[in-house]
Amino acid sequence: MSHLFEHYGAEGQGYSQPKPIASIDSIKLPEGMQRQKPPRWPRLSEPEMVRHYTWLSSRNFGIDTGFYPLGSCTMKHNPRINEVIAQLPGIADIHPLQPDHHVQGTLAIFYEMQDMLAICAGMDAVTLQPVAGAQGEFTAIRCVQEYFRKRGETQRTKVIVPDSAHGTNPASAAMCGFEIIEIPSKDDGRIDLDALRAVVGEDTAAMMITNPNTLGLFEAEIAQASEIVHSVGGQMYYDGANFNAILGRTSPGLMGFDAVHYNLHKTFSQPHGGGGPGSGPIGVKSHLAEFLPGPVVSRREVEENDKVTVINDKWWYHWETPENSIGKVQQWHGNSGAVIRCWAYYRRYGKELKTMSEHAVLNANYLRKRIMDIAEEQGVLDLFCDGAPVDVVKHEFTISMAPLKEKNGAGAMDIAKGLLDQGYMAPTVYFPLVVPECMMVEPTETESKDTLDKFAEKFVEVIQMDPEVLHEAPITTKVRRVDEVYAARNLTLSYPFDDE
Ligand SMILES: Cc1ncc(COP(=O)(O)O)c(C=O)c1O
Repeated sequence: MSHLFEHYGAEGQGYSQPKPIASIDSIKLPEGMQRQKPPRWPRLSEPEMVRHYTWLSSRNFGIDTGFYPLGSCTMKHNPRINEVIAQLPGIADIHPLQPDHHVQGTLAIFYEMQDMLAICAGMDAVTLQPVAGAQGEFTAIRCVQEYFRKRGETQRTKVIVPDSAHGTNPASAAMCGFEIIEIPSKDDGRIDLDALRAVVGEDTAAMMITNPNTLGLFEAEIAQASEIVHSVGGQMYYDGANFNAILGRTSPGLMGFDAVHYNLHKTFSQPHGGGGPGSGPIGVKSHLAEFLPGPVVSRREVEENDKVTVINDKWWYHWETPENSIGKVQQWHGNSGAVIRCWAYYRRYGKELKTMSEHAVLNANYLRKRIMDIAEEQGVLDLFCDGAPVDVVKHEFTISMAPLKEKNGAGAMDIAKGLLDQGYMAPTVYFPLVVPECMMVEPTETESKDTLDKFAEKFVEVIQMDPEVLHEAPITTKVRRVDEVYAARNLTLSYPFDDE
C-alpha cells in the first residue's frame, strides 16, 4: 500500500509553515527533550497529496458510495449542512482553554445539546464527554458503581445482560469490575421475565439492555423488567444504540431506566465507521447526576459584571464539574465536532425527529417484507429464515442463513461477501449471537424505496448463486477477502521505517 511516509526525502513540499515567533535558541528546552534528527515529514506537492487521499478514499466503501445496511451501526446519510456549520470559524477555530466569556455561543450549543438529549431520553442530567457508545456504557456503569459505593452497598457486584446483548455491554461492566450474569431470551427473542426474577437479588448492581433489542424487537415488557430490577435496589441501564427506532415516540425514562448512553453518530448524524469518530454522551436520572464526568455546561442568569457580549441577554454559560464526579473520561470536552454536527442536525429537524424514527421503522419493515415476497415468488423462501418469529420489527431485522448453509455450505459470511460484489455494503453478520448464521439488516430512514427494492432483488439473487463462487467472493473489490482474525490480532500501528 502506498503510504505518505514513503515520500519522505522526496523533493516536493505541499505545505508552508508559519514563521516561528521565537528562535529555537531562545527556547531553552532541556537537553534530553531536544530533537536529535529532523522530523520525518513526508514531502509531497499539493497534487501528489490530493492524489494520495483520493486514491485512499477510492479503496473504501462508505455511505456516500452506496447502500450501507449495516445492522446496529445505523449508517445514515449525513447532511452536508452539518459540516458547513461545524466549520464556521467561530466554532472550528476556538481552543478548549479559551475562557468562558470568549465562547458563549459554543457553550450555549453544548448546553442546548445536553438539554435536548435529557428531554429525548427522559433523563435529568447529561454529560457530553464520552466519545463512543462503548465508552458511554463504561462511564455510566462507573457512575452506578460510585452511587452504590456512596450508599455503602458494595455487595452489589453483579450486572445482568440478556444473551442478545451487544458485546460491549458485558465488556464495559467487566472493565468496571462487575461479574456478568447472562440470562437467556424467550423463544420470540425478547426478555424472559422469569429468568430475570431468578437472578436478581441484593447483589444486583444493574441490568444493561437495549430497546428495541438487538433483534430489532421492541421489548414490550420492559417496564416490568425495570420493576423487577428496582424491587431489589438495582439500576436499569439503557444501551442507546437503537434509539433511532424510538426517538420522539417514547423514552428510556418512561420505560424505567436510570442511565442511558446515546450514540450520537448513529441516532443523529456524524460520519462514522471503522471505529470512529463518534460521540457517546450519557444521560442519568437525578440520583446519579453528582457522579457524572465533567465538565458539563451549566448556566445562570446574566449578572451586571459579566464581561461579555452574551449570545442572548438572559443566560451566562459556564463549565462546571459535578460534586462527586467519577473524573474525566476524555480530554477536553469530548468529541466537540461530532456534538456540533449532531446539534445542527437536531436544529434542522426539531420535532420532525419523530418522523425520522417512524421512517426508519417503516423502511426496515418494507425491506424485510420485500425480501420475503421476492423469495416466495421465486420459490426460494426455504433458503433462509426469520431471525425472530414476529410480524413487525422496529428499525432493523435479522435473517438466519442457517438453512442455506445446511443445504449447500454458503453461510452468512459468503452472502455478505457476495453482496459486496454487487456494490452493496454487507449487513452485519454473526450478531446477535442468538441467531445462527445471522445477517442483520438496518436500512435507515434516508434510503429511497427504489434503493430498497433493488437491494431486495439482489439479495435474493445472491443467495441463489453457486456456493463455490460465493466462497471466493468478493472478486470485484479493491481488497479481496481478508483474514479478519489475523488483522485483529496483529495490528500494525506504526510505519516500519528501514533505519529503526
Ligand atoms: C447494540 C449496541 N450497543 C453498543 C454499541 C457500541 O457503540 P459504539 O460503537 O459507539 O462504541 C453498539 C455498536 O455497534 C451496538 O450496536
